[in-house]
Amino acid sequence: MALRHIVTKEDNILHKICREQVKFDERLHQLLDDMAETLENANGVGLAAPQVGILRRVVLVIETNVEDEEDEEILELINPVIVSSEGEQTGAEGCLSVPGEYGIVTRPSVVTVRAQDRDGGWFEYTGTGLTARCICHELDHLDGHLFTEKCERMLSEDEIKGSGSEG
Ligand code: NI
Repeated sequence: MALRHIVTKEDNILHKICREQVKFDERLHQLLDDMAETLENANGVGLAAPQVGILRRVVLVIETNVEDEEDEEILELINPVIVSSEGEQTGAEGCLSVPGEYGIVTRPSVVTVRAQDRDGGWFEYTGTGLTARCICHELDHLDGHLFTEKCERMLSEDEIKGSGSEG
């Protein structure tokens, strides 16, 4: 495994539409493993392939709705599509590609995503709360969108203290 460089919002690659992941091979597994290491190193809750310079429909989301932090698991979502969503949550959101900035974004409170695993098998996963927010945020990356396009307003320096999670 290796750390990959996380690009920031000035990089054009973050504003492009990613292509479908077609091959479920060793190269994809390497990318997923590298992304996991990069995500954990950056203390984020999610990471999309374009953030490490790869224009493919591949994202990681950490399931944080667990009792014990040790039980947090990394969801690997390849060619993900949101098949249903419900409810609404409004809260602070950040992004590893927009360091130090947070904004208020409204997202669904429950999201079900259909995706492929690292071997190409299809599955569905339902996330709530932060996980639902993170799924939406990461999937937006695949279509070249950043949370800053959707936020009602950015947080001030004072408000940032003690809030926010980065994807
Ligand atoms: Ni992000």
